[in-house]
Amino acid sequence: MIITVDGPAAAGKGELTQRLAKHFGFARLDTGKLYRAVGWRVLAGGGDPENEAAAVDAAKALAADDLEAPGLRSEEAAEAASKVAAIQAVRGVLLEFQRHFAAAPPGGRKGAVFDGRDTGTVVCPDAMIKLFLTASPEVRAIRRVKQLQEQGAEAIHGRVLQELKERDARDTTRNVAPLKPAEDALVIDTSDMDADAVFAAALDFISSQAPDQLPKS
Ligand code: C5P
Repeated sequence: MIITVDGPAAAGKGELTQRLAKHFGFARLDTGKLYRAVGWRVLAGGGDPENEAAAVDAAKALAADDLEAPGLRSEEAAEAASKVAAIQAVRGVLLEFQRHFAAAPPGGRKGAVFDGRDTGTVVCPDAMIKLFLTASPEVRAIRRVKQLQEQGAEAIHGRVLQELKERDARDTTRNVAPLKPAEDALVIDTSDMDADAVFAAALDFISSQAPDQLPKS
């Protein structure tokens, strides 16, 4: 049982996927973290994230420790992530890991919840439940500034907004696996919704699509 939640940065995917995974007892995969870890590894080695050879080497060498690197949530890591994410060969390396996670969720869980950009379109095109969260860039920038400040990082609204817009543009216009809703995804605009309302809308949709297949929480 696979649930995919895609959408641009700070649309509410992290919170929703954590709640869904907890509610149903499913495993959760933050696929953005994989791309961040690859980008961060390239930067740490003094390389350029747009350099295909460097990025592919980093993807192939990715280890569990890389997913715990302290700088991963920074805007620098996000920018590097969206650069390595535009390289087809990098996506190919990470696709294998994600498909395996879907086929055999860790801990013997009966399902998995994916958080990403292309998890409903490319990684798990047959997922039973597909959601696509979006929100206005201004609202997302406010949320992102708050998240960064909570992590103790400095964040200036105007700069975060500009970085989000640049990343959106890179993610939606790239040739491989561009950010877009799957045809069978429910699109939720979370601009005027809080996390409880988004969770309730997702649960409604899930129970309308898969009333018998889901474990009761
Ligand atoms: O979700 P997060 O902000 O951590 O993602 C960082 C970047 O990784 C995104 O801007 C996007 O370029 C890339 N990404 C992707 N496909 C995914 C998840 C993330 O291309 N499934």
